[in-house]
Amino acid sequence: MCGIVGYVGDRQAAEFLLDGLSKLEYRGYDSAGIAVYENGKIRIEKSVGRLAALREQIKGRMPVGSLGIGHTRWATHGRPSDVNAHPHADCHGDFAVVHNGIIENYLSLKEDLIAKGHEFKSETDTEVVAHLLEEVYAGDFVAAVREVLRRIEGSYALAFMSKEHPDMLICTKQDNPLIIGLGEGENFIASDIPAIISRTRRTYILGDGELAVVRKDGIQVTDRAGQLVTKKVFEVTWNAEAAEKGGYEHFMLKEIHEQPKAVRDTMSQRITNDKKAISFEELAWNADYLNSFNKIYIVACGTAYHAGLVGKYYIEKLARVLVEVDVASEFRYRDPIVDGSTLLIVVSQSGETSDTLAALKESKRRGAKTLAITNVVGSSIAREADQVVYTWAGPEIAVASTKAYTTQLVLFFMLALYMAEIKGAILPARTAELVTQLQEIPSQVSEILSDVEPIKTFAKQYGFNEDVFYIGRGLDYSVSLEGALKLKEISYIHAEAYAAGELKHGTLALIVEGVPVIALATQRNVYEKTLSNIKEVKARDAVVIGIAAEGDTELQKYVDHVIYVPATDEFIMPILSVIPLQLLSYYAAITRGCDVDKPRNLAKSVTVE
Ligand code: M6R
Repeated sequence: MCGIVGYVGDRQAAEFLLDGLSKLEYRGYDSAGIAVYENGKIRIEKSVGRLAALREQIKGRMPVGSLGIGHTRWATHGRPSDVNAHPHADCHGDFAVVHNGIIENYLSLKEDLIAKGHEFKSETDTEVVAHLLEEVYAGDFVAAVREVLRRIEGSYALAFMSKEHPDMLICTKQDNPLIIGLGEGENFIASDIPAIISRTRRTYILGDGELAVVRKDGIQVTDRAGQLVTKKVFEVTWNAEAAEKGGYEHFMLKEIHEQPKAVRDTMSQRITNDKKAISFEELAWNADYLNSFNKIYIVACGTAYHAGLVGKYYIEKLARVLVEVDVASEFRYRDPIVDGSTLLIVVSQSGETSDTLAALKESKRRGAKTLAITNVVGSSIAREADQVVYTWAGPEIAVASTKAYTTQLVLFFMLALYMAEIKGAILPARTAELVTQLQEIPSQVSEILSDVEPIKTFAKQYGFNEDVFYIGRGLDYSVSLEGALKLKEISYIHAEAYAAGELKHGTLALIVEGVPVIALATQRNVYEKTLSNIKEVKARDAVVIGIAAEGDTELQKYVDHVIYVPATDEFIMPILSVIPLQLLSYYAAITRGCDVDKPRNLAKSVTVE
């Protein structure tokens, strides 16, 4: 996720660009840049770090000109650095481009362009767009952009400027947001409404495949075929703060709703072209490498640790390698048995968690090979690990982790499949079947999110005032742990998760009339066993809300309510069954009037011990 802005009019472009970017930093903040048409040239200023660093860089020498584009970055291809920051230009500085998304075929395009003599400065996928534009340009800016769009694959919101056309910007989008703000004698481009709301409330929301030519006195929108599109003006009625949250009341809810896209982006480029297998180009593992390990450790904290528990299940079950999972604060001090035949996988949304980083350093010192799963390119953990695979969830602002968790599960599942393929532990037909199911996840998550009313009602109805228990077996148990943590951290309600079979070894004593129990029953191999445990708590008059796959007609006979999620392969169920748990926590916290995005005593990134 990145933020894009553009300006064309009579005022100073840089002022709007910087102001607009400051409202989009929630979309990315590892580097920022602007390009302004100044004295017959495109002047680009960019800097690693937050927008403040860019402001400092151009203090007293602001670009002067009334046409420009800007960008605040959340790195995907290439670490955060001055050169990797956007805008990107072609060889001669004739074009500048800003991009949000991923150009999936950039490597092959880059090779072609290099062979034709283009010189690249950055490691980004975006720079190919600028060079491609230079390559195909023959005097018609719009035609050249259209040709570029024909050649690139992937997701994007793009804004272009050309030295030869100082009166216009071009922008277009596919699977990433882009809006045009309509002013008087000036127009604006932005990834999101907060960037323009101080200048105008009248907007066009660009659709996929639409291309807009934006001049100060007019906007022409055409579709993929070049046909004129008549856009309806969308009048923004929210205030600036609400706009930043995309109309959602809290970042947490917004991030819950971003999960279909986050999951899709995380899968992108890791499924082979024939859609039958998994490939991690960034790892390039082989059987010798995998066979050199006799054990894998997964080490993390909090939600990331819970993702690790699911990861263990996936890797052991699919790739048949022994996996131990540990919380980083324990692992680092317990003299772990780690050596050259250990693979250590650390998981961290922020990539900055101090205990996880320390565990990583300690394991490296003992000779382990290390792999990081993180959401932040260029973070300390990403830099320290031997190898890294990124979750492409985009910035997570709410303290409670949601989309980072689901993307971590997706990544673990893909990693386990990848390992199983390499080790020959899985039949290709079974992999293909699972890859097919994997690709269904975004639409299945959207389906769950399309009707949250029953979940809202449960959260209100039961109030969840004192103790809530979460139970499940196997993967359902791992998800229960995450559900309980979510409830605790944002609603301050005491919640505990138990392996359902453990109840009778003590905790059953706490189950009395009216105690809420959330029972997950999505795993067929332990289904009957879980059902017995549910009957045990029901017999003590607990109020039981079951989570089950659509088509399950049994569970409803034994519980008070069932929340159904789409049916899929049991491996994939955790990625779906956690969504109602996130929503339950969210609405319970709302009911209790808690500060959802900034819960008491907690910080987003725990960089101290
Ligand atoms: O950035 P990390 O994933 O390393 O953070 C780890 C935990 O601090 C984090 O998951 C925490 O548990 C979340 N607040 C849970 O929602």
